[in-house]
Amino acid sequence: MAEEQKDLEVLLGSEERFAPPEEFVKASEYSEAAIYDQAERDFEGWWESWAEKLDWFEKWETTLEWNPPWAKWFQEGKLNASHNCLDRHVEAGNGDRVAYHWIAEDGPTRDVTYADLLDMTKRFASALKGLGVEKGDVVGIYMPMIPETPAAILACARIGAVHNVVFGGFSPQSVKERMEVSDAKVLVTANANMRRGKPISMKTEVDKIAGELPELKHVVVVERREDVETPMQSGRDLWWHEICEQADGDCPAEPLDAEHPLFILYTSGSTAKPKGILHTTGGYLTGVSATHRMVFDLKPESDVFWCAADIGWVTGHSYIVYGPLANGATSVLYEGAPDYPDKDRWWEIVERYKVTTLYTAPTAIRACMKWGREHPEKHDLSSLRLLGSVGEPINPRAWVWYHKVIGGERCPIVDTWWQTETGHMMITPLPAITETKPGSATRPFPGVDAQVVDKHGEKVEEGGGFLTLRRPWPGMARTLFGEDERFVETYWSKYGPDIYDVGDASKVDSDGYFWIVGRTDDVINVSGHRMSTMEIESACVSHERVAETAVVGAADEDTGQAIVAFVTLDGTGEEPEGFTEELRAHVAEKIGKLARPKRIIYADDLPKTRSGKIMRRLLKDIAEGRELGDVTTLRDPSVTEKIKEKMAAESD
Ligand code: PRX
Repeated sequence: MAEEQKDLEVLLGSEERFAPPEEFVKASEYSEAAIYDQAERDFEGWWESWAEKLDWFEKWETTLEWNPPWAKWFQEGKLNASHNCLDRHVEAGNGDRVAYHWIAEDGPTRDVTYADLLDMTKRFASALKGLGVEKGDVVGIYMPMIPETPAAILACARIGAVHNVVFGGFSPQSVKERMEVSDAKVLVTANANMRRGKPISMKTEVDKIAGELPELKHVVVVERREDVETPMQSGRDLWWHEICEQADGDCPAEPLDAEHPLFILYTSGSTAKPKGILHTTGGYLTGVSATHRMVFDLKPESDVFWCAADIGWVTGHSYIVYGPLANGATSVLYEGAPDYPDKDRWWEIVERYKVTTLYTAPTAIRACMKWGREHPEKHDLSSLRLLGSVGEPINPRAWVWYHKVIGGERCPIVDTWWQTETGHMMITPLPAITETKPGSATRPFPGVDAQVVDKHGEKVEEGGGFLTLRRPWPGMARTLFGEDERFVETYWSKYGPDIYDVGDASKVDSDGYFWIVGRTDDVINVSGHRMSTMEIESACVSHERVAETAVVGAADEDTGQAIVAFVTLDGTGEEPEGFTEELRAHVAEKIGKLARPKRIIYADDLPKTRSGKIMRRLLKDIAEGRELGDVTTLRDPSVTEKIKEKMAAESD
């Protein structure tokens, strides 16, 4: 361990840079830095060149119509995402190519070819039509990581239905909220979700809320495990395999306008109410296929690509489903935990399937680092040629470990910055062009104009500030579902109607490299998952014993940030026996397990200004063990002292 520490320190020299390896550059299709200038000179033409690689039923006439902040890309063009992801590969003779090597957590594996996935998709698309789903209707998807999930997504895209995927780790209450606002008629789920080798009933969870959704007509259930008892409500609930068996296997892909809505994906914002990010067809597909191809230096015939995210998040939408499939790539689809049955599970998969490209979050890398290098060292990882990181800032130590221990010092690392709202990667190295610096997402993708500005909106040439995007890009969110005004207010107001306010703080260095620091709003990033402090606070106060609460994100060496809740209770401020677990369970029920506070601190009062506003900033300082600055604006400065003492006592 001491040796490894030393190695890392050496590599972590202050200005350490990593040039693209020569062999990698030689073999890459994208090694000319002139790409950047070309895209800069004509960004519309640049994106157009990528759109041209897709199959269009009718070609577009106008590349971009930009009435800030409203963008329309590839107007008058008609295409279908499911056709682009499936039919065209099968028609080109690649039906036998594996789309997904599916690996179940509990053992089984299944290779799903493009022809198989097309057949599954067509059948389910027909079945959806049979259930009365029409173009523009919203379909909910609440599923584990199984091949039916991409098939369900693409079936929606095939008939012009809009999918609304909810991460399988969210609670039924969260599913309900997301179905309610989007008036979903059909919800697709599975009877079981695997957790560390054991099936957990998913359908009975859905049953808790399905009856409370008047618009919901059907629940379609994939039989993930035969041994899980699954109550089915006659008329409403249907088995996936039964309706697909009966369905017409021929369901042509509907030609859709480029701006036809493709999906809604809810994400957390500054308020308790999640935001329904809306993406449309032509621009999104152009952006995800271009970035997937270039950033991962994809060679569709030979690469085995593994994005180890969940389909329920945007990373899964863009880089498990749409990007790889549009590019005809072969991916790994792994259902389970990285340490089940053992801590070498990922590396065993890399060896078995000869994975060439691995894309994951810094939290996972830090966890592997903690478990020790003996786990990856048990396996032959020589197939790997490129590594990716996403979702949160990667600390240089984890970057270097990833490079050395996993990448054998031969694999470039692409640290990719983007968001649910941007649809695809925005700031990222190109692996055969960009010299990397551990911890920096480097430069904007060709055609993207990113700028760090000060609080007046003036460009910061070098130093820290707020990240903005200045130019439309094809995969940009078109609006918040049903909330145009909130869309404008949240993203396009602070610096003007044509400047996108990212909500992240960033530094820019003398080489123009970006170093993303983190969120500037009330959003916590836990293990690369975006959580709203307000949402967690309202879940806490909905418990009858909680009077008031303030939630902050505190720096955490494992998960990037951790949720810390400061709580005042009704009655005495003392924590009743076992209450912490009760409150954590309550939050899990309201939002999902991932929103449970790591620490709960009980206090008689919270630090407030004279006008009664809770000063979360001070609580964050306390949670991170920082000296508190000026507390004179507080109504009762002694409150912070008491909380500090309480925290210190608990840490002992
Ligand atoms: O704060 C940034 C962080 O994750 C936020 C977006 O979260 P979400 O919409 O859930 O999408 C996550 C996956 C794309 C951003 O505002 N973030 C994302 N990627 C990085 C990052 N922070 C630092 N470095 C990154 N590479």
